[in-house]
Amino acid sequence: MRAVPDDRRSSGGRRGERVTLRVSRLAQRVGHSGTMAVDDRMQALRGLGHDIVSLGAGQLDFDTPAPIGEAGARAITSGQTRYTPVAGTAGLRAAVRSKFERDNRLLYAEDEVIVGAGAKNVIFHALLALVDPEDVVIVPVPCWPSYPPMVAIAGGRVVGARLDARRGYKLTVEGLVSAVAEGRGRTRGLILNSPHNPTGAVYSAEEYARIAEVVEGENLWAISDEIYEHLTYDGAFTSFATLPKMRERVVTANGVSKAFAMTGWRLGYAGGPRAVVRAMEALQSHTSGNPSSISQAAAEAALRLSLDGDPALAETRRAMFQAMLQRRELACRELASLPDVHLVRPAGAFYVFADFSRHFGRELSGKKIQGSTDLAEHLLEHAGVATVPGVVFGDDRCLRVSFATSTEELSVALQRIRKALS
Ligand SMILES: Cc1ncc(COP(=O)(O)O)c(C=O)c1O
Repeated sequence: MRAVPDDRRSSGGRRGERVTLRVSRLAQRVGHSGTMAVDDRMQALRGLGHDIVSLGAGQLDFDTPAPIGEAGARAITSGQTRYTPVAGTAGLRAAVRSKFERDNRLLYAEDEVIVGAGAKNVIFHALLALVDPEDVVIVPVPCWPSYPPMVAIAGGRVVGARLDARRGYKLTVEGLVSAVAEGRGRTRGLILNSPHNPTGAVYSAEEYARIAEVVEGENLWAISDEIYEHLTYDGAFTSFATLPKMRERVVTANGVSKAFAMTGWRLGYAGGPRAVVRAMEALQSHTSGNPSSISQAAAEAALRLSLDGDPALAETRRAMFQAMLQRRELACRELASLPDVHLVRPAGAFYVFADFSRHFGRELSGKKIQGSTDLAEHLLEHAGVATVPGVVFGDDRCLRVSFATSTEELSVALQRIRKALS
């Protein structure tokens, strides 16, 4: 979104006269999602006939498994097309509670879970429920680009805790303590994300235990974004709320987007302390209302089939997981072999956050590359490869390379990058 200068007030507007409406200061400050801007540019170039391979995707390239889609279709034909309870149908909430219990050993009562239109929506409502004006929320950076604007919309202030590649892009106790201090007595909460977008970092139980001690000691709340839970390749997945004394301080956000290739269905869920979940429900009742009844039926089928160990779904998901493992190998091997490119091998999610900064200052195709935006543009315009500039995530040295695409496309794209840098 282009910011409209603040002094362009709406003119009175006589009949037939063009009126320029001034958008709010909040809207001017927030701007558009950077990842989506890259996608728009790529679509435009494709529309002009350019051959573009996308390594920009934030979603799996697989179709939603058939039994899940069929459950959605059945919901339409059987008339499940009306409003549902704001926090979700009883059936879906029961499935969410069973999922939390089985996968995460988290026991939630019925009124301690809520479903919404995507994990994005659920995280937003959690922030609205937790943040007061001027409250400080710590966000480890680089981060998913939507956290800081969401905190700002909720009226809070973000303090970034810088993640270091040499520490595997993981928040350390020292980093957290110093971010709390930077909040000058106003630090209230922390957003955690494991497996992490964009770095693929996965926290072990021991690492999370150390962070939990600080969270308790400083009397903070936390939102744990676990949307990539089922794409954990190395080590065990740990849910932050399972750490000692965290159950009452943590909202656990998750969803079906990445677990079941269902990004378009827009269905996320959360579990957390009753008072917070009830506040989220009240807020949601005035904003998005209940998520789509059809998507809820499909999500319930996804969670139920998975809980029941349905062999066909289990096989489809195993095949997806194996494909992702192979793609990660290919992406890491090729990127690590590029001259002057450094990376931390991702243990989860489907991104490699690779440091290309040693190429900054070079002249490529007649243009001096100053940072990640220039490099991503160069790769898009001259190599036909879409990546996401690291600056979008708060780290201008890197590009985010998604490996959620076929090995053929991945190979072509990585060869093109190699050529474009040589
Ligand atoms: C870290 C992270 N959290 C949340 C989301 C949003 O997920 P959903 O599709 O459920 O809204 C994404 C999507 O890319 C993500 O990367």
